[in-house]
Amino acid sequence: MSSDGVNTGRRRFLTAATSAVGVAGAVGIAVPFVGSWSPSEKAKAAGAPVKADISKLEPGQMIVVEWRGKPVYVLRRSPEMLDNLDKLTDVLKDPDSSISQQPEYIEGAARALRPEIFVAEGLCTHLGCAPKFRPEVGAADLGGDSWLGGFFCPCHGSKFDLAGRVFSGVPASTNLVVPPYSYESDTVVVIGVDAEAA
Ligand code: FES
Repeated sequence: MSSDGVNTGRRRFLTAATSAVGVAGAVGIAVPFVGSWSPSEKAKAAGAPVKADISKLEPGQMIVVEWRGKPVYVLRRSPEMLDNLDKLTDVLKDPDSSISQQPEYIEGAARALRPEIFVAEGLCTHLGCAPKFRPEVGAADLGGDSWLGGFFCPCHGSKFDLAGRVFSGVPASTNLVVPPYSYESDTVVVIGVDAEAA
């Protein structure tokens, strides 16, 4: 990605109305606040499914919604981001997700129902911090040329790619968890309802 792309990517980091404040704050960069979809307090308390409106989500943008008290990242991956997933196999602990961290209907390197939309719980699988969204290819503090964009946990330095697959040599040992989810329509993701049951 060009330096322009990097800046654009960072500007485009969005956070939804239902985001956990701590997650948004952990990003440490100025981000626009864009509303997505907010379940009622009663629904949230009951652990009900939540819906994420992805109609305005552009390639490279990510929103955060809260489900069962946990942040869930919803990222629209660009074609370049998807292409890069296949370049990382050698540096990942579990590139094929052989340790189940996802519903059985989630397969392949993209770990998603639709390749361009990635959904994962925003909790590091080491000790539960919120990994930062770091889409900038070549970020100097994350390995320079070898960094193709991903998620970085600031607590103890774990790294994940843009499919939530954990890197080798970091404290976390498993990939980010993909929650059950489905599509209500082309533009609405329902988190908490299995695709097969939708
Ligand atoms: S909690 Fe993420 S690296 Fe420890």
